[in-house]
Amino acid sequence: MDDFTVTPWKVEGVIDYDRLVERFGVRRMTGDVRARLARAAGGSHHLIDRGIFFSHRDLDAILKTAEGGGRFFMYTGRGPSGTTHIGHLVPWILARWLQERFGATVYFQLTDDEKFFAKPGLTLEEAGGHALDNALDFAALGFDPDRTRIMIDTRDIAALYPIAARVAKKITFSSTKATFGFTGETNIGMIFYTALQSAPCFIEDAPVLIPLGVDQDPHFRLTRDVAPVLGKPKPALIHSMMMPGLGGGGGKMSSSGDDAILLSDDPRTVEKKIKKRAFSGGRTDVAEHRRLGGDPDVDVSFQYLRFLFEPDDSKLERLREEYASGRMLTGELKQILIEKANGFLEEHRARREEIRPDLGSYMFG
Ligand code: TYM
Repeated sequence: MDDFTVTPWKVEGVIDYDRLVERFGVRRMTGDVRARLARAAGGSHHLIDRGIFFSHRDLDAILKTAEGGGRFFMYTGRGPSGTTHIGHLVPWILARWLQERFGATVYFQLTDDEKFFAKPGLTLEEAGGHALDNALDFAALGFDPDRTRIMIDTRDIAALYPIAARVAKKITFSSTKATFGFTGETNIGMIFYTALQSAPCFIEDAPVLIPLGVDQDPHFRLTRDVAPVLGKPKPALIHSMMMPGLGGGGGKMSSSGDDAILLSDDPRTVEKKIKKRAFSGGRTDVAEHRRLGGDPDVDVSFQYLRFLFEPDDSKLERLREEYASGRMLTGELKQILIEKANGFLEEHRARREEIRPDLGSYMFG
């Protein structure tokens, strides 16, 4: 019996990625695929090199297209249930880098309808407000406005619905039920929703690559089954691991409560959250820590540096050694994270304000 759950609406337990690869039937990012991607991209990215993007579906087909000088486009998204947290940035940062390297158009879907269906207390208006705020976070990562199309489901439905209808006709209730565990009590918005998340995959007549957190994979399993019936190539995916919440121990970072660092958190809040909440891989007292060293693999501060805030490999390795040898204490590691995270967030907020007046130029409609 597996002791972890990974679905688009629930991530629980400590994820065993080897078992997840088997369970989902995805393919591991091997050294070969990584090298091939680096060759085609003319460089590499720490999210790939460090194995944070750990699996894929049909990435080789996309690479073949790129190597042959062919065109592909990209697609990713966000369910606007609240403020963006740092975990959401993982697939978006890779998408931005891929856009820069391959000149690909990126579609970004904001699923205000999905979150309205899934969250009992959320109104459609509130989800719509979060969508615009999340769009600003996405655009502020440095996407090219000429090659970026941000869509909001309820607003851009005219472009999405004809595709969603074709997809919906080919997905049965039993397959969506088997994929997501829906019951007789599930509202019918949720049951239809996969068709809408599938729609951007087929919006252009070209192959698509989707960078995403692995929790979203189940939707695209259904999409991939439908693609050949619609005469379209199967969407290719590249999956990231789930960045842990501050409390560590697996699960998905949640925007509610104190488990996540939000992009809107001011420096004091970031400092307080990390000091109080970031799960430590350190030992119970200083003497023992000096003797045995800390465990960077479970230390949330180290993991945040590894995922996002220390892109320099040699610096990260130095931190790993210092911490694992016991020379560096948890408090010192936390201080480094606090400074890096606050530096990143400060720059991000400045960039948000810079592009705010131009957000319209990134929008689809
Ligand atoms: P949402 O809003 O839950 O998450 C947005 C994106 O962030 C990823 N993600 C994470 N990645 C790493 N670590 C984490 N802790 C973490 N938490 C979230 C998610 O996997 C996702 O890629 N239904 C989707 C919205 C959507 C979408 C898409 C996502 C529509 N079309 C196409 C990916 C691709 C949602 O609610 O995502």
